Amino acid sequence: MLAITDAQPTLVDFATARVSGRNVADSVRTIADLAGVFRDEQARRALSPERPVYHVQIHAPIPEGTPGGLLWGSTIVEPGRVGDEYFITRGHFHAERDRGEFYVTTAGEGALILMDEARRTWYEPMRSGTVHYIPGRTAHRVANTGSVPLAFVACWPSDAGHDYESIARDGFAARLREIGGRPVLVPDGVAT
Ligand SMILES: [Fe+2]
Repeated sequence: MLAITDAQPTLVDFATARVSGRNVADSVRTIADLAGVFRDEQARRALSPERPVYHVQIHAPIPEGTPGGLLWGSTIVEPGRVGDEYFITRGHFHAERDRGEFYVTTAGEGALILMDEARRTWYEPMRSGTVHYIPGRTAHRVANTGSVPLAFVACWPSDAGHDYESIARDGFAARLREIGGRPVLVPDGVAT
């Protein structure tokens, strides 16, 4: 017998990547939350501490940490810069290092910045419709290089976990900065 069991579905608006429905948790990261993330700490402190940098929604039909399942969510990165560095997510390795992830861009323009365990760092341009496979053992973060919100959806194993501490301690080996009006990945510690 057929039956409609999901009378209250979880929904995503692809134009904005906003998710609504059951089992959706929202969080926001503001300028105040991102101390130490950007190269120019003085420029960060000059911005309004309440200004949102990115919003995350996680749809967890099963608890995080469950082996064998999947979690899904969306992120919206606001346009803006701290000095010459684009607004960016903190970035993480997965706590279970071999776990991968998919990102799919739904709006805006940006860059998926990737770094392997040898600290080799590169990026993939993001625009509406781009599909990105993030292999295991690869740290990932996203910068908005455009003038409108950058939105993407993501799917990852429910037991992947997040290791933000490694990035908070060691950072990425390069930063995406606007130089001459375009994004350039510059090794960290380079002044220009
Ligand atoms: Fe991830």
